[in-house]
Amino acid sequence: MIIASPLAAWAAEPAPAPLAAAVCANCHGTEGRNEGAIPAIAGKPAFLIAGKLRDFKADKVANATVMPRLVKGLTEAEIDTVAQYFANLR
Ligand code: HEC
Repeated sequence: MIIASPLAAWAAEPAPAPLAAAVCANCHGTEGRNEGAIPAIAGKPAFLIAGKLRDFKADKVANATVMPRLVKGLTEAEIDTVAQYFANLR
């Protein structure tokens, strides 16, 4: 028997963007694939995105401009959340 549950309908909706990811859209595009000088981030493996963000945070990216400052405002949990979010966008 199939029950049309409102909960099932809700579960089928795409996951809402985490709050910390909203700011990324300004530069990387709403779905993380802005074209141009700013690199696309959507669809990359989460560990690569998170690793890159942690490198920015630790000032390990020599020619970085805005990202180091930006990532310093994110908690470790937020880094993992946004990395997972952009990894799931295709
Ligand atoms: C003010 C514009 C701006 C915002 C906002 C921004 N970025 Fe960036 N991002 C850049 C630029 C520019 C680069 C290139 C590195 C640099 O110059 O700092 C970059 C690089 C990156 C990279 C490295 C990509 C690669 O392949 O080298 C990742 C990952 C990334 N951003 C993720 C994010 C995430 C996640 C957010 C939101 C928390 C975000 N960015 C917000 C401008 C922005």
